[in-house]
Amino acid sequence: MSVLIKNPEKYFRQFIPKRSALLRELEEEAFREDIPIVGPVVGELLFILARIIRAERILELGTATGYSAIFLSEAFENLKGQLVTLENDPAMAARARKNFKRAGVEEQIKIRVGDALEEMKTIPPPFDLIFMDIEKIDYYTALPYCRDLLRQNGLLVADNVGFEDADLFNKAIFSSNEFRPVSLFSFLPLHSPEKDGLCLALRL
Ligand SMILES: C[S@@+](CC[C@H](N)C(=O)[O-])C[C@H]1O[C@@H](n2cnc3c(N)ncnc32)[C@H](O)[C@@H]1O
Repeated sequence: MSVLIKNPEKYFRQFIPKRSALLRELEEEAFREDIPIVGPVVGELLFILARIIRAERILELGTATGYSAIFLSEAFENLKGQLVTLENDPAMAARARKNFKRAGVEEQIKIRVGDALEEMKTIPPPFDLIFMDIEKIDYYTALPYCRDLLRQNGLLVADNVGFEDADLFNKAIFSSNEFRPVSLFSFLPLHSPEKDGLCLALRL
């Protein structure tokens, strides 16, 4: 009989995806300054998901220093695509802008500085993918906007659904007949935090 790997957390730490020096620098900076970022495992997952659905229009809620937005924008085939990312802290937005230039993806990304819950009311649909990564308590309020902004068969990815503040969102999306969701509670090396839930939901 096959046996599960002993100490899977230690074992899977050796399989963290390769990434650029810039992304590693942003990880170190986030660790030093206690900025919660998705880290290389969820970053790579975002890249793969965006690439396989051939996303051309992506919306991100919560930019911080731009780490996850760089993964998402690098998924555009032949750089053909647009990511709109929403951040309510102007200082963070300024840092992200510099990082987008350094990553060479500034043409593909538009940052809107303001409250995501307000900004989403004025952004024209449709999006192929929405990545939700703001205050977890606001996920529930953001959900109907995501529903309206996603195209049919578009993908919603919500980070940090292992937090108590995401409880209302988790219950709402699993009782909705407008989404087909799956939640993964996982070990995610270098994610903030390393054990957390991720929700993927198809817009019906
Ligand atoms: C978890 S961090 C985002 C991390 C980023 N997605 C990454 O992985 O690189 C959340 C960010 O969302 C911003 N934020 C929180 N609530 C927001 C809101 N209602 N509207 C816009 N930005 C918000 C915070 O200022 C913070 O920079």
